[in-house]
Amino acid sequence: MVNMKKLAGEKACEEIKEGMVVGLGTGSTTFYAIEELGRRVSAGLKIRAVATSKKTEELASERLIPLVSLNEVHEIDLTIDGADEVDSFLNGIKGGGGALFREKMVALHSKRNLWVVDETKLVQELGAFPLPVEVLPFGYRQVEKELVALGFHPRLRNAFNSKEPFITDNGNYIFDLSLKKNKKYRIAGTKTR
Ligand code: A5P
Repeated sequence: MVNMKKLAGEKACEEIKEGMVVGLGTGSTTFYAIEELGRRVSAGLKIRAVATSKKTEELASERLIPLVSLNEVHEIDLTIDGADEVDSFLNGIKGGGGALFREKMVALHSKRNLWVVDETKLVQELGAFPLPVEVLPFGYRQVEKELVALGFHPRLRNAFNSKEPFITDNGNYIFDLSLKKNKKYRIAGTKTR
């Protein structure tokens, strides 16, 4: 069977050109892009990369991809990143892997963002996948109350196989919000179902 994540990740690397600053996303699809980029760098391609997570940083340095921080670059030419859901208007939900904050900062400072997803991520309407929101541990229960009041049914994310909260690379917690069950909130101009 064709591995669509691998195909998407590797294909995205065709957009990387000599001298670019490349944003490297996080996740199992971006993994293949990083592997392919590593091969291209070994073959002589000169680029600099900004990683969106500690995991990606590790992976990229293992593949000998030159890394710089977001502070060291003027802007990023192209960012390749994954997503958890994408609709036909190219709206998406990101953060299933917990790297959303840095991913969004890197995306914001990128001239171009390329999402690599397989067919399982394509949806008509966003919201089956919970929407992750990163929050400071300081006063997070207050934030939770506000999210509850807005009808978002927040669930504090736990670390894998643990009852302890998941801690992001920035030392924060994540609330996963249920959009489907949300009665009160809707984006202006959209129809309720
Ligand atoms: C990381 O927090 C997420 O935003 C990822 O970009 C997303 O979860 C990637 O999904 P895959 O692992 O399926 O590529």
